[in-house]
Amino acid sequence: MPDSDALVAAARAARDRAIAPYSGFKVGAALETRSGGVITGCNVENASYGLTVCAERVALLKALSEGERDFVRIVVVADTQSPTPPCGPCRQLLWEYCGDIPVVMANLTTVTGQHQMKELLPLPFDGRLLGGT
Ligand code: THU
Repeated sequence: MPDSDALVAAARAARDRAIAPYSGFKVGAALETRSGGVITGCNVENASYGLTVCAERVALLKALSEGERDFVRIVVVADTQSPTPPCGPCRQLLWEYCGDIPVVMANLTTVTGQHQMKELLPLPFDGRLLGGT
């Protein structure tokens, strides 16, 4: 099982691979599986702007497409003094596939914050509501 430092290091390394020529804002993410695996992602921007994909979503979709389904933690790294939390759409996707996991935020030198998904997405819309309950 990767310790917290290893997961943060993986997210920092992913951030180095970010493709962010338009915003200049590079982000890395590292998703930990229950079996101790680590899947990383970086933001990938596009000239049409709106097609940009966040680091968290890249990591999550990579993991899901590789058959991973059981996640225990995600680390998000950006070069900011205050924590950089996942955007709204990423929160929705993380909630659906990861549930109430801790989201650790870090910059290039230190951990800046940690919140549970339930704090980041209170009163979520999810599949349970589709059953009419
Ligand atoms: N971005 C992420 O990758 N993750 C976040 O948590 C916040 C924003 C990216 C999207 C875009 O490429 C750049 O950061 C500026 O918004």
